[in-house]
Amino acid sequence: MSPAAELITFNEATSAEAFASRFGATDDATARLLSAVVGHVHQLIKEFRPTPEQWRKVLDFLTEVGHASDERRQEWVLFSDLVGASALVEEINSRRPAGATPNTIRGPFFRADTPHRALGSTISLDGIGEPLMVDGSVEDLDGLPIPEAEIITWQANAEGCYENQQPDLQPEFNLRGQFHADQRGRFHYKTVRPAGYGVPGDGPVGRLFSQAGYPLHRPAHLHFVVRAPGFETITTHIYDASDPKLGEDALFGVRPELVHPFETLMVDGKPISRVTVKFVMVRARPGRSK
Ligand code: BEZ
Ligand code: FE
Repeated sequence: MSPAAELITFNEATSAEAFASRFGATDDATARLLSAVVGHVHQLIKEFRPTPEQWRKVLDFLTEVGHASDERRQEWVLFSDLVGASALVEEINSRRPAGATPNTIRGPFFRADTPHRALGSTISLDGIGEPLMVDGSVEDLDGLPIPEAEIITWQANAEGCYENQQPDLQPEFNLRGQFHADQRGRFHYKTVRPAGYGVPGDGPVGRLFSQAGYPLHRPAHLHFVVRAPGFETITTHIYDASDPKLGEDALFGVRPELVHPFETLMVDGKPISRVTVKFVMVRARPGRSK
């Protein structure tokens, strides 16, 4: 065979195939997805025909997103959330029967190392903000309690900031906690009312979106992950029904069944709010992600 016969012809018509012929077949799902992404990128370049300078700017943006990501800040997750990719993956993977608690995106502020706390304790380590009591229950679709379900919660403070956004101002793990429901599937804890907030606009993703005039507001909410053996994990939000910006969520994440009244009582002249939440879990189904 002459050396010329081994050359792979690379031009506008063959670029994606030329790449695929070298990448080869693999069982690795991430590699297969990346290979498909390459095909779409080639298509996009053919359609939009960027100049090398314009393409360089795209690469510079992606580089900045990577540099802005570390164990405290996940700018790539923010990117995926804001372009609707995270929500679409959730939507495709976690369609649930009526009555079950829907999944929403987890967002960039989750911490897997959230400490365990005793039922009834507070997750507000600095005590700043208007007190909020959370009462919850975890049950299956038949209304039967799920004893000892595990509940992880995290939220912004009264100024709309997460603990890992303000490491110098908030104690580590402020407004985060992991609880085990009791034998009746019930749990309760104390916290403070979260404020709505702007999606971080100080990184490359927020800057790009604000330049494009995209609204970056999130209405006030609590985040939850609820797990129990034999059930699909719930990753969801509970929204404060009194937030006037409920309809303006940057992520289109507000669903009516996740909006709850945060009722306020005056105790000794001071406001104390309470919210009651119910999580309804679905039994794990074969072939579906847990
Ligand atoms: C959040 O709710 O914590 C969140 C989700 C996506 C982007 C930014 C923040
Ligand atoms: Fe949030």
